[in-house]
Order: sequence, then structure tokens, then C-alpha cells
Amino acid sequence: MNQPKQNASEWSGVAASDAFAIDETNLFETLGGIQPFVDLSTNFYNRVYDDEEEWFRSIFSNSKKEDAIRNQYEFFAQRMGGPNLYSKRRGHPALIGRHAPFPVTHQAAERWLRHMQQALDSTSSIDPDSKVKMMNFFKHTAYFLVGGNEMTKQMQQSQCKHCANGSSTS
Ligand code: HEM
Repeated sequence: MNQPKQNASEWSGVAASDAFAIDETNLFETLGGIQPFVDLSTNFYNRVYDDEEEWFRSIFSNSKKEDAIRNQYEFFAQRMGGPNLYSKRRGHPALIGRHAPFPVTHQAAERWLRHMQQALDSTSSIDPDSKVKMMNFFKHTAYFLVGGNEMTKQMQQSQCKHCANGSSTS
């Protein structure tokens, strides 16, 4: 298994087989279309943008809430068996690359997941079994992104060393 995926399982406590149980069924069809995904992402980002912790809220400060909601629900719906609305509008998801500008630390993943668990708990249009499957996927992906972020940072640092010529401080 490759390193980021192995880290994701270890750190999240979710085996890859549980994380990708979303691929053994079609949650988009089970949930009856896009509305439950809209409900979930709205619920999630309302919590994120109202977070009492400034350090976490500030990670999202360059995005408009409505855009963040749409990016997220279109991706979730597409990833869970629905139409490719996300890719049509945004291109390949490339989640590690898209998260590279943000501090996706262990602490940030924990807080993201806490908001997501609370958002799921209060989204009545999603049935309990689908909630478990979705949360396993979210947990694994969150820590996959933490590992990806660490890798990106290491690569940037080693590139800086290769480029250094003594006259630059960067
Ligand atoms: C976008 C942070 C986990 C999927 C974003 C954005 C931020 C962010 C700041 C920009 C908001 C926007 O403009 O759309 C984080 C942090 C995480 C996390 C701190 C903690 C681990 C996840 C997870 C997933 C995910 C687990 C998928 C299961 C996405 C997607 C976008 C996004 C699809 C939209 C990307 C785009 O189209 O530009 N995230 N995220 N994120 N995130 Fe995350």
C-alpha cells in the first residue's frame, strides 16, 4: 500500500475497505438525488464559518461560503455515484493539490471531522447506514490529506535547498 493511504488508515483508524464501502453501493441513488448532499454541506459550512476558534475559521477566509458549499456538495454527490457536476465545473478533483495552500494539520482534520459529524447528525435527509459509510470515507480522506500536505511541504523544502545558491535567503 502506498504511504499516504497507509497513514490515512493508521491515523483515522478506518481501514481502506471501510472507507471505500461507498464504492460498493450508489449513495446518490440511495439518498434520492442531490438535495441531501446540499443539506449536508450547508449544515457543515454553517458550522465552519461560525466556528468559535479563529485559527480554524481563518483557513476558509478566502472562500465565499456559498462557493465552498457548492464545491463540496458537487464533489460529494459525484464521488458517491451521482453526475459529474464537480468535474464539469472545476476539473479533476486533485484533492491533495487543491488543499496544498491550506494548513491541513492533524488538529485541522480533527476539527473538520467534528463539524462534519455534527452536520451529519443533524441532517435528517440522510439515513443512519449512509451516514456511517460517508463518515468512514470522510475520516480516511481527511487524514489522507494531512499526509499529502506533509509530503507537499517536504517537497517544497527540498526544492528550496536544491535551488539555493547562497545569494538567496529563501
Ligand atoms: C475545499 C480545507 C478536508 C474536499 C477546501 C477549502 C478549504 C478546505 C480551506 C477551500 C474552500 C473552497 O473554496 O471550496 C479543508 C481542511 C480539511 C479538509 C482543513 C481537513 C482535513 C476535506 C475532505 C474532503 C475535502 C476530507 C473530501 C472528503 C474538498 C473539496 C473542496 C475543498 C472537494 C473544493 C476544492 C475546489 O474545488 O477548489 N477544503 N478540507 N476536504 N475540500 Fe477540503
